[in-house]
Amino acid sequence: MVEPPARRGPAEPTTDANLAFVQRHLAHRHLQFTPLASWPGHRGALTREAKRRGLTVREQDKSMYFFQAGRCIGGTVGLISTLVGYSAARTTRSKTFTKDLLARAGLPVPRGRHFPATRLETAVSWWAEQTTDGGLGEVVVKPADGNAGRGVSVEVRTEDQLRSAWQRARRESSRKQVILEEQVRGVDTRVFVVGDRAVAATVRVPAHVIGDGSRSVAKLAEEYEQARTVHKYLSSRPTFLDVTLMGRRGIGLDDVPATSEVVFLNGTANVSQGGVTVDVTEEIHPELLELAVRAVSAFPDLRCAGVDLLVPELGSPEGATVIELNTSANLSINQVPGYGTPRDVAAALLEEMQRGR
Ligand SMILES: Nc1ncnc2c1ncn2[C@@H]1O[C@H](COP(=O)(O)OP(=O)(O)O)[C@@H](O)[C@H]1O
Ligand SMILES: [Mg+2]
Repeated sequence: MVEPPARRGPAEPTTDANLAFVQRHLAHRHLQFTPLASWPGHRGALTREAKRRGLTVREQDKSMYFFQAGRCIGGTVGLISTLVGYSAARTTRSKTFTKDLLARAGLPVPRGRHFPATRLETAVSWWAEQTTDGGLGEVVVKPADGNAGRGVSVEVRTEDQLRSAWQRARRESSRKQVILEEQVRGVDTRVFVVGDRAVAATVRVPAHVIGDGSRSVAKLAEEYEQARTVHKYLSSRPTFLDVTLMGRRGIGLDDVPATSEVVFLNGTANVSQGGVTVDVTEEIHPELLELAVRAVSAFPDLRCAGVDLLVPELGSPEGATVIELNTSANLSINQVPGYGTPRDVAAALLEEMQRGR
């Protein structure tokens, strides 16, 4: 006889949205990943598509250029393509300045402030004022110029948590700036915009298992890891089991989740931590795609970007916010989702380059 699961700690807005998403969009196809036998990566996908289009590819170190009838039509340096202007690439490195430009364009962004990393006490006072006013509530603390989720703390509720989150964020900020931001609800949605078109929308959710009433979290996690091996991009990184976070949520590796109970194995949706990507290009509300396109067009020299939205409900634009723009977005996230239909982002990028300005 299996005991019913205990109530697992306080409600967590981000987790709630992820939970609803998993129950609605993934539970019926749990572990039925879209098979992907091999994957050349972002740059490999671009090279392959360029050759398919009869273009010549010249490569040196991190730079790669594409030629059509002898004329260079575009290229990429690392992950930053020639569709991204220098100013946009520089400006989007600052999440605060990016949000400022987005807000001026009338787009919804989370409220917050950034502080030099030396001004922890100022930040603590500001946070205290905001929270006693019934303002910010739970906050997110993150480096103003970070990436890949490094140094980001969510669900910060107490001064102690704020102080330690601050240290994590400052370590990952090269310009030593830290953001305190209202924690908004929603699933992590990456929309890849090329030109004035949203080419693909992909939700990212943290690694998770679904109970069957008989196997432990550890056993189910092994099965999850094994199932991911059919997808070469997802399985290139092992799943991170965050036992501390699970412990805080009242669950251990030896516990046996009830049938249909969803257990998240860690708190971040990054593929590098074992997260999964789900194509939602057809399901997402068109106004959310439009929001991503408008975010890109807020920058005069930007013709492609990965736009990060937090979306409370995929079928509605209500409450959605733009949290950042990635000018060096890895197209693999959208092109080869773990669940659902692949979208040809590489083709869209090459097409935009061939179209010219
Ligand atoms: N204001 C916020 N509210 C809720 N979650 C957030 C917020 N800001 C960031 N996050 C979470 O942290 C992740 C990383 O934050 P992001 O600003 O995209 O930084 P990075 O450049 O490291 O990707 C997001 O994908 C999201 O899950
Ligand atoms: Mg991001």
